[in-house]
Amino acid sequence: MMKKLSIADKDIDTILVLDFGSQYTQLIARRIREIGVYSEILPWDISSEKLQYLNPKGVILSGGPESVTKTNTPRISNSIFELSVPILGICYGMQTLAEQNDGKVTTSRKKEFGYSKFSIEEESLLFKGINTKEIEVWMSHGDKVSSLPNNFVLTGSTESAQIASMEHKELPYYALQFHPEVSHTNFGLEILGNFVSLICKCKKDWNIGDLIEQRVNEIKEQVGNEKVLLGLSGGVDSSVTAMLLDKAIGSNLICVFIDNGLLRKNEVEEVVSLFKENIKLNLEVVDAKKTFYRHLNGVKDPEQKRKIIGRTFIDIFDNESVNIKTKEEIKFLAQGTIYPDVIESSESESNEARIIKSHHNVGGLPDEMKMELVEPLRDLFKDEVRKLGAKLDLPSDILNRHPFPGPGLGVRIMGEINPDRIRLLQEADSIFINELIKADLYDDVSQAFCVYLPIKTVGVVGDERRYADVIALRAVETVDFMTARWADLPYEFISKVSNRIVNEIADISRVVYDVTGKPPATIEWE
Ligand code: XMP
Repeated sequence: MMKKLSIADKDIDTILVLDFGSQYTQLIARRIREIGVYSEILPWDISSEKLQYLNPKGVILSGGPESVTKTNTPRISNSIFELSVPILGICYGMQTLAEQNDGKVTTSRKKEFGYSKFSIEEESLLFKGINTKEIEVWMSHGDKVSSLPNNFVLTGSTESAQIASMEHKELPYYALQFHPEVSHTNFGLEILGNFVSLICKCKKDWNIGDLIEQRVNEIKEQVGNEKVLLGLSGGVDSSVTAMLLDKAIGSNLICVFIDNGLLRKNEVEEVVSLFKENIKLNLEVVDAKKTFYRHLNGVKDPEQKRKIIGRTFIDIFDNESVNIKTKEEIKFLAQGTIYPDVIESSESESNEARIIKSHHNVGGLPDEMKMELVEPLRDLFKDEVRKLGAKLDLPSDILNRHPFPGPGLGVRIMGEINPDRIRLLQEADSIFINELIKADLYDDVSQAFCVYLPIKTVGVVGDERRYADVIALRAVETVDFMTARWADLPYEFISKVSNRIVNEIADISRVVYDVTGKPPATIEWE
């Protein structure tokens, strides 16, 4: 029997998001859950058996990179229409809905990307409660619907897309050319809310608070009196996983924390103090600094560095696990896998592949120690994991900490990595972060850090000239980390951080501030 991803015993209202490959698909599901309705993402070519089992109250068709003007691009399966539930097509979802109902879609000469003014032309349940006729929306498309499908009416337009929204005259089929899930679209949450509440008539019964007891019971049921191994990173996901397991099985949880030597200043001490001394978890710290430094010695290429760090991590974790396992006979491996790590790609339904963060992949473990996975967060988004963590009394500095990449400072030192550079970067980063906290700015930015540039520039200290390296400050504001703006931090603040760094760190002669958005830059520098 196929099991629902999460809510195993409860029958709660579900909105299904069918993924046509848009970068925004996850946002759609997150927004629906924020509204209080459970939502799951599945590939566009989902089997009708699975569809029937899930029994959704409504289906949202995501955007996607393909063009319906070409043959062999994704289409909505007939089993969706047979469900007789409301459908909302967004962007590519709208175009394929139109094309499959005898409408016409054409490729525009100009791609439209960014803000657009959308005028509501007809009353629609989708726009109920919006007290203006003109809203700013976020567009990202090359194709557009150029003639309405049978029995559809136009409900809204933009300058470049006359048919920017449409709906069926009798059936509950709706479509939008713009992206209501993106925070730049005004009233986007209201539009999605109208779809799930007024059109699909869903109950708002998705509540994170209720989950703890259910998850604790599920863990107990899965592992009984057996021991469970967990790789703790100090990040939100593995920390919340540890707290849930601690609540469920107490001392049968064995945590391993790998010090790869690429962590932030005092990070190891902080993890030990919280998890080992305060929460009293069984925590083993593995000092692997030397191995990482040896493997990274002389390597300059960013991709190579990432690969080496990932591979070394898996090797060390495997070794430790084998050691612990031979001592303790452990059958279970817990992982802080969250929903974005497991969402299946469009092709996956056919080839049964799953996309999983590579260092999470249990396939990396040696054959003799294949273990059963315990993944209590695998259907949750990051914001939901944070809420769960707060209910489990994890301190807010862990829960609200800016994200830190798996390869750590390894991708924040341009060029070769060595212990001296790591120490300098740790010092500079700690100054920047502590000043942000002191100035009450830490929570205003989504992510902030220093980058080490091994470029000699001149400076004067006293009467002497010195040639030393550069630190770049990076701070961004973002909702989803897919797009980001550089943070407009006060000049006096940047000036203070800069002064402290060049005065307190002898080997740094210059500080610069990164004023590039994403796109075109990424948040990290490597
Ligand atoms: P970029 O640099 O791609 O980063 O704009 C987006 C977000 O992802 C984080 N990031 C990573 N996280 N392993 C991770 O766990 C990685 O290899 C990695 N690379 C980037 C980055 O810090 C930002 O929050």
